Amino acid sequence: MPSPPGNNTAPAAGHCAHPSSGNLHPTETWVIAYWVDGLADGLYHYQSREHRLEWRASSLTASETPGLWLGFSSIHWREAWKYGERALRYCQLDMGHVLAALAYASALFGWQPRLVNLDHDTASHCLGLDRAEEFAGVEPEEAEVIVAMHVPEPGAVPVPPREWDEWSGLPSKLDPNPLYAWPVIAEAAEATRGEPPLASSPPVRGSSTGLASRPRGNDGIAATAVILKRRSAQAFDGVSTLPLACFRRLLASVLPGGSPVWDMWTATPRVHPVLFVHRVEGVAPGLYILPRSEAGVADLGAAMRGEFEWAPADSDLPLYRLIAANAQRSARTVSCHQDIAAHGAFTVMFVAEFAAPIAENPAAWRHLHWEAGMLGHCLTLEAEAAGWRGTGIGCFFDDADHDILGLQDERYQVIYHYAIGMPLDDTRITTLPAYD
Ligand SMILES: Cc1cc2nc3c(=O)[nH]c(=O)nc-3n(C[C@H](O)[C@H](O)[C@H](O)COP(=O)(O)O)c2cc1C
Repeated sequence: MPSPPGNNTAPAAGHCAHPSSGNLHPTETWVIAYWVDGLADGLYHYQSREHRLEWRASSLTASETPGLWLGFSSIHWREAWKYGERALRYCQLDMGHVLAALAYASALFGWQPRLVNLDHDTASHCLGLDRAEEFAGVEPEEAEVIVAMHVPEPGAVPVPPREWDEWSGLPSKLDPNPLYAWPVIAEAAEATRGEPPLASSPPVRGSSTGLASRPRGNDGIAATAVILKRRSAQAFDGVSTLPLACFRRLLASVLPGGSPVWDMWTATPRVHPVLFVHRVEGVAPGLYILPRSEAGVADLGAAMRGEFEWAPADSDLPLYRLIAANAQRSARTVSCHQDIAAHGAFTVMFVAEFAAPIAENPAAWRHLHWEAGMLGHCLTLEAEAAGWRGTGIGCFFDDADHDILGLQDERYQVIYHYAIGMPLDDTRITTLPAYD
């Protein structure tokens, strides 16, 4: 297998706070700082390999107030050289994991990050990604979102500065010999540009009941340690049964208010988990659904198979059993025949409300994938805190998923899978300390 282009900027061996499809890490991070101790005011690029900031530009205008923003962008080629057209989806799912990782980490500091409502071109300009002469001849970098880390008053999300001076640094060429071109990726990226979704309601500080509000997990592991020791399981043991209390806590984390993520991402939930339950204490194996909104219950019920039971399966959570069955073989088949989908405690299909939100705003296509990535991240961190583990499954057969669910048209679309189980460690692999 050829080595990944852009390997020079992938994280060094060891931990990374978020998983990445194919371990290709297409997401770049930018920092805009005003009045931050130890940093000159300006725009910086996060250099993951060295775990440090690279100076990029200074601000033309002085600020009278402090400000700190993180900007994110995707380099599609990091995924495309390996995954072709699927790269765009994977970049967006990764982006969701990154946003969720940011929300959890911020909560540990008592910060409440907010998405800045900027259109794509403005965000690109703020991050210096529209400097055509510098990007000539290198792989393009697509602005995704800017997040304000310092929000002085409720409701007022500060906008980052846009005009920079004294530029330094140049983007590197990742792949001098690309074997293929996937022009549809650039077309689809352009067609899905737009502002991040507006909050449906102001976030409620401290509303979450998730990991970050419990800095010490049951087994005494600090939340920071959980965040940093997170890895994706490569295999599950196929026998362990997930305790019911743990299952319920994982499910609660993906519901509004269940994790710091939903304090940052307050838009109406549009992605709903459907679970293949294999080995969960007191829960019969089968297919279950956890609609994340009231509307989700009614509309999904109408769109899915008429013969589904919709039997309430929990006294508190909106969990419904659709059908009792041993679902291991189905879960494995629809997850590109990957054993991790059958050998864990449960595997999730994330079903997105699709056609309507995208017709209203094409950028919703990206945001739905972010939401799915965030959901996976909540499951993964909560599982990790309890001594279990998760793995994202970007390779799945959506038509087969839709057959199982009876989905006939594009109103709904499965956009991601996730598996949770008791990991089997590969003893041949050594994990190094993060950023040694
Ligand atoms: C969007 C996404 C899709 C993924 N798809 C798969 C998959 O289909 N099969 C798999 O075994 N791992 C999958 N992974 C896990 C990655 O391979 C894993 O995150 C990566 O190798 C880095 O390892 P780490 O998470 O332990 O840091 C996926 C991860 C993400 C974020």
